Amino acid sequence: MVATTRSRAVLVLLTLGTLACGADKPVGTTDALADGTFARIQRTIIDPSCASCHRSGSSDARQSGLVLTADSSYQQLVGVASLHPMAKADGLARVKPFRADSSLLFHKLAWIPGHHSRDYGNLMPMGTTRGISMGQLEYVRRWIEAGAPRTGNVVDTAILADARMQVASFTPLAPPAPGAGVQLTVDSFPVPPRNERELFLYRTLGNTSELFVTRIETRMRPGSHHLLLYTFDEKRTGFPCTPRPTPNQVRDIRSPDGAPILINMLAMACHVYFAGAMTPEFDYRFPPGVALRLPANAALDLNVHYVNRSDAPFPGQAMANLYTVPRSQVQFEARTLNLANTSFLLPAKQRTTIRTEFRMSTRTSIFGLTSHMHALGERFEIRLRRANGTESSLYVNTDWEHPGFTNFATPLVLEVGDTLLSVVTYNNVTDRAVGFGLLSTDEMNIIFGYAY
Ligand code: HEC
Repeated sequence: MVATTRSRAVLVLLTLGTLACGADKPVGTTDALADGTFARIQRTIIDPSCASCHRSGSSDARQSGLVLTADSSYQQLVGVASLHPMAKADGLARVKPFRADSSLLFHKLAWIPGHHSRDYGNLMPMGTTRGISMGQLEYVRRWIEAGAPRTGNVVDTAILADARMQVASFTPLAPPAPGAGVQLTVDSFPVPPRNERELFLYRTLGNTSELFVTRIETRMRPGSHHLLLYTFDEKRTGFPCTPRPTPNQVRDIRSPDGAPILINMLAMACHVYFAGAMTPEFDYRFPPGVALRLPANAALDLNVHYVNRSDAPFPGQAMANLYTVPRSQVQFEARTLNLANTSFLLPAKQRTTIRTEFRMSTRTSIFGLTSHMHALGERFEIRLRRANGTESSLYVNTDWEHPGFTNFATPLVLEVGDTLLSVVTYNNVTDRAVGFGLLSTDEMNIIFGYAY
């Protein structure tokens, strides 16, 4: 079967070669795809270090929107816009021919300490403490600078001889000055080789009076999908979210063999998004005069998800600084948007799209949006329809486990009569109808956001 396919491919190449270039072109073995600069990048860097995650159907491919197996990597890299909001805002393409500095691929591979690639999500290959070698990085850079051609040899392979490895560096975030805020930490913990750990950690803030947070700064050791901070909300679930998790106790959600630990997943039903970062270093300031209020004796549930693809254990670690101001400096208290559709039904064995409208009854300035759905959810889009009928897309998430969040540097002002819409596509592969509920076998359909 394999032999048949391969001989058919060779036949096609032979035919094309003959038609396009005449009989003088050597055929068969010197297929340029098998031996040009990009082919070498694919074979010696991407195939061994990247394709295990970036393969069609994996959650990593969904989260990054990027498949890097040989059949699609060139098409998905060169001249294609990045999905990452910051990279997009900075005008980067995944690979912009002739411009390595405008190519996200280069920044993701450059583990140079202090390099601003850290704004664009995790360094690649994610899930290890070593990047590609210095020689490989330079080889990729020069390929881009040479126009990133699909075929042909454009970079001297001698560059690959520089086998010095790039290694991860991590500088913990210093806590805020006394009186200027609080630091919450996930202390260093081992991530076993060829394994992953997703854990929650409930931290009390130790505040005796209410706090007003105006800035959130986070830092993670490389290798985590995200750092998320949650509060708990009884009103949302309709049942008491008690007892709360025990403070300072690590709650893994999978046992080392990968089986879910249900008791530790239960609290997730009560979570309300407070803040989050998907990049190793993140610093978010609320619009001037706006603050998030935390009551006295507040606590937050911290969540990180580390994947270790290497053969040695490495540490996970994360910290979040919440910077606060006195109440007198607060003009607007931010409130949580919690726009849920709790009455939908997804017929068995079919794909269903649910569109829900939330019409604004007061003027609302939104500065953050994220979404919540469960495992049958394929795509969550948030749209805005102005009172005059024009509609635009604000947010799209295709990975239920790792929802992105969009922060608006300039708040998005919704007037009375404007409408937020959630457009959620589910694929109910089960043989029973599924509706809204808290269990992981039920579904969810919620827009979370921050507004004032
Ligand atoms: C352990 C899984 C994993 C491995 C291994 C991995 N990646 Fe990724 N990659 C991801 C995830 C998850 C994202 C999205 C999150 C992020 O960008 O931080 C991503 C994002 C990217 C992006 C950004 C896409 C965009 O448009 O925003 C690029 C480019 C990329 N990876 C390239 C690579 C390359 C090249 C390698 C190999 C050297 C690699 N990745 C190895 C998981 C992985």
